[in-house]
Amino acid sequence: FSFDADSEAKITMILARYPEGKQASAVIPLLYLVQKQMGRLTGSAWLPRVAMDVVADRLGMAPIRVYEVATFYLMFNTKPIGRYHLQVCGTTPCWLRGSDDVLRACKDAGALKGYGDSSADGLFTLTEVECLGGCVNAPVLQVDDDYYEDLDYARTVALIEALKRGERPPIGSSIGRQTSAPEGGPM
Ligand code: FES
Repeated sequence: FSFDADSEAKITMILARYPEGKQASAVIPLLYLVQKQMGRLTGSAWLPRVAMDVVADRLGMAPIRVYEVATFYLMFNTKPIGRYHLQVCGTTPCWLRGSDDVLRACKDAGALKGYGDSSADGLFTLTEVECLGGCVNAPVLQVDDDYYEDLDYARTVALIEALKRGERPPIGSSIGRQTSAPEGGPM
């Protein structure tokens, strides 16, 4: 694994935020860059061990310190995942507003057995997550870094069918309410 030109440009900007000798503070954004690059180049946004070693080397960290971070946070995938990562919020506000229907739609339309499963065609991986901070428009489904809100069974099926066609529907509330998340994720 090596960083591509796009990632290298971002690394330069990220490392400039930290004082000399404190580069290890950039471990989370660099792991995030690895994951994004893997998704871009291979269709599976995850962190191979060899890439974590590259991050450790770049930041002057012991590899075990990088593995600790990567395995602690749910946003990092330490195993290959599908092209689209379907993350169903199952916390109480979303549950009360129909997250079970969102889950059922993901399973039906995505050909998924349940949480932790990936579809045989490599398109989808299904994960349960806790509150995404978008409860005002519950229930919320996070697809990769994008939030889809105010979903029900039919709207979730329509979203997944669009993803299968290679389309990326507009993020935010599916019924036109103000959206709760910025586009494009944390970077
Ligand atoms: Fe689902 Fe907060 S409970 S976004």
